[in-house]
Amino acid sequence: MKEKIEKLLTQIESLKAQGEQEVEEIRIKLLGKKGVVTQLFEEFREVLPEQKRELGQVLNKLKVAATQKIEELKESAQANMQPTHSLYDLTKPGDVVELGARHPISVTMDQIVSIYNKFGYTVAKGPEIEDDWHVFGSLNFPPEHPARDMQDTFFITHGENPVLLRTHTSSVQVRAMENMPLPIRIICPGRVFRNEAISARAHCIFHQVEGLYIDKDVSFADLKQAVLLFAREMFGSNAQIRLRPSYFPFTEPSAEVDVSCNICKGAGCNVCKGTGWLEIMGCGMVDPAVLEANGIDSKVYSGFAFGMGVERIAMLKWQVKDLRHYFENDIRFLKQFQTVI
Ligand code: PHE
Repeated sequence: MKEKIEKLLTQIESLKAQGEQEVEEIRIKLLGKKGVVTQLFEEFREVLPEQKRELGQVLNKLKVAATQKIEELKESAQANMQPTHSLYDLTKPGDVVELGARHPISVTMDQIVSIYNKFGYTVAKGPEIEDDWHVFGSLNFPPEHPARDMQDTFFITHGENPVLLRTHTSSVQVRAMENMPLPIRIICPGRVFRNEAISARAHCIFHQVEGLYIDKDVSFADLKQAVLLFAREMFGSNAQIRLRPSYFPFTEPSAEVDVSCNICKGAGCNVCKGTGWLEIMGCGMVDPAVLEANGIDSKVYSGFAFGMGVERIAMLKWQVKDLRHYFENDIRFLKQFQTVI
C-alpha cells in the first residue's frame, strides 16, 4: 500500500489539465466517492494497527497533495479562460463610425466667398470685438442713430469710443480702407451680433458676407453687375435681380437687392409671399463722407459696398424657415446636410 501511495504522489505532481472540465474529471478520479484516494482510505481501515501510524501519515500527505494540485489546476484553467472571453466575443455588435458633416452655414458662406473670389475679390477678416469708431463712427452713423442704442448693440464698455460686439462686418471694410493700398476689392465673411430676441426670424448671432470695391471711376453699373453675376452663380443662370431704393448711413445712393424666386420661378409662392421676389442683400455707392473719414480722396476715388446675411441665403437655398435650427446643433437637422459637400 505504501508503494501504491508513493507512486500516486509522483503521478499527481506531474498532472496537467486543459480547461475546467478536465480539472473536474481529475478531481472525481482522485477524490470522488469512488476516487483512488477515497478508496485508499477505505483500505486503510483494514490495515494492521502497527502499520496505521506510518501509513496514515503518507495517506494524509497524498490527500493534501491531491487537493492542492486540483486547486492549482483550477486556478490556472480559470486564468487562461478569462482573456479569451473578454477579448474575443465575436457576438458583440461592432462600433458604429459616425460620419461628420460641414455645417450648412459654413457651406453657404464658403460658396458665397468662392463666387466672389472668382470675380477677383480677396478675403479680409477683422475682430468681432470692435470699437464704436469702426462699427459706427467712421461709417457716418449720427450719434443719435438707433443702432447705437443698448437695445440693438451689445456694449462691453461705455464712454468716448465704447467697445462693443460688431453688428456688421462693415467694420472690416473700415479697417481695410485704413490699412490697404488702393484699389481695394475685398469680401468680408464673419460672425456678427445684435441684441435681438431669439425667434424663428431673428437671432442675436448670425453671419454676414460684405463686399467693398474702391477704385477710380467705379459706378453704380459696376455694382449692379457684381450683384447680378453673384445671383446667377448662387441661384442659377436664369436668376433676375431688381434693385429697390433704400437707405444706409454709409452708402448713397443705397438699394435693397431682390432675386427672382427660384422656387416658383416668379409665379408667386409662400416662400416669396406671392411676390415672385426674394430679398437677398443691401448695397450702395460708398458715401463720399465715409471715404473722407477713412483718408481716401473722394474726388479721385469712388466705390460700392454690399452686404448679405448668410443665414438668409441658406434659408432660401434649403427652405429652412426657422433660423434657430442653424444654431441649436441638433444632430438630426445637421445630418440632412451630409450629402451637400
Ligand atoms: N452693413 C449693412 C447691414 O449690416 C449691409 C450693407 C453693407 C448695406 C454694405 C449696404 C452696403 O445691414
